[in-house]
Amino acid sequence: MSAREPIDAVLMDARDPLARYADEFHHPRDASGRKLLYFCGHSLGLQPKRAAQYVEQEMADWRRLGVRGHHDAGRPWIGYHEHLAAPLAQLTGASESEVVAMNSLTVNLHLMMVSFFKPDAVRNRILMEASAFPSDRYAIVSQLEFHGLNAREHLIEIAPRAGERTLRTEDILAVIEEHAARLSLVLLPGVQYLTGQCLALAPLITAARRAGACVGLDLAHAIGNTPLRLHDWGADFAVWCSYKYLNAGPGAVGGCFVHERHGRDGALPRFAGWWGHDKAARFLFEPDFRAIPGAQGWQISNPPILSTAPLLASLEIFATAGLQALHVKSLALTGLLRRLIEQRLAGMVQVITPGSPAQHGCQLSLRILRDPSEAKRCQQRFTDLGLIADWREPDIMRMAPTPLYNSYGEAAAAVEVLARALQA
Ligand SMILES: Cc1ncc(COP(=O)(O)O)c(C=O)c1O
Repeated sequence: MSAREPIDAVLMDARDPLARYADEFHHPRDASGRKLLYFCGHSLGLQPKRAAQYVEQEMADWRRLGVRGHHDAGRPWIGYHEHLAAPLAQLTGASESEVVAMNSLTVNLHLMMVSFFKPDAVRNRILMEASAFPSDRYAIVSQLEFHGLNAREHLIEIAPRAGERTLRTEDILAVIEEHAARLSLVLLPGVQYLTGQCLALAPLITAARRAGACVGLDLAHAIGNTPLRLHDWGADFAVWCSYKYLNAGPGAVGGCFVHERHGRDGALPRFAGWWGHDKAARFLFEPDFRAIPGAQGWQISNPPILSTAPLLASLEIFATAGLQALHVKSLALTGLLRRLIEQRLAGMVQVITPGSPAQHGCQLSLRILRDPSEAKRCQQRFTDLGLIADWREPDIMRMAPTPLYNSYGEAAAAVEVLARALQA
């Protein structure tokens, strides 16, 4: 490491206008009480301190009010999820009626495909990335099979070029063009889960729609991480989970975006439930379904208040800090981490996440340049030394400094830990 870098990290922390937000979170500690270097926000975000208070408020209202809590709780349960619409709309670049917090990511993906994957004799193919998170592929293949189709003929999977790790925009555009007449749905990630690559969504969405396909996005690794403009980009739908950068806790309630142009389309097929039915008439218990206009019309069941409360707590922190300011810090923080890794760990690791600011979010993915068993031992060593990052076989380490609760000093310390783990 150059002698200047640790000093840079200290200065950067001293000048960081968002530094105080770290104290909004519980930081895991080791047995001796020492704060661990937590770089796993891409997997499970830390617990906001105020989350327990938000959950406890609902527990107290439930204790105190029983069923009357639906209407008389401090935040009446009947409309609880609506408190999430404004902050989610801000994070996704959507209008409030285009977003809804509900279910979990894969469930929402299935629900969206019911509406937006409508294969016919000509358009019956789905395009996705070859190394997508497996749940997306399972969902897509099972949807194809549900329609009597099969992955071999009807699933197009685009991979990086031979010898490359990340996708090129021009290659995705070329595949869209090649299959234009047959494409029914294009599913893209906002940020690729393994490599941390942020895709150029605007041109890809435009091209896919021009080809006549519907476009869906998996924003698991993008929401709360990178700036999104879902409405303007024109995606048909997007789905996400809230346990990563949104810090809403394990298995927390996920979310969904449906573009305004579909919000009142009664002809779209959908799997309906009473929570998506016309709010004013919900308790008239009418037999025929009339969807609430907008994304809320895709809800099925009444929402899980106790697992929605931490999300509300967390989104309040985002609303105060502001995604734009967080993104500025994120670029500086991840940029520092990359520089230190490249200086200090040259020849030992290779950063595979693209370097251009538009092509990454918080996460850096590193290839450990060791034989596989040694790489695995290295993972154990950095964990023992107090660095919480994660490992994807055979040789990828993912680490994500998150601007809400990680500091520049922690980024410098993490690189020192990695150096010790790799040199041991
Ligand atoms: C990119 C991506 N898609 C889908 C999922 C599945 O999410 P869920 O279990 O909430 O359905 C994950 C989970 O980590 C993910 O990272």
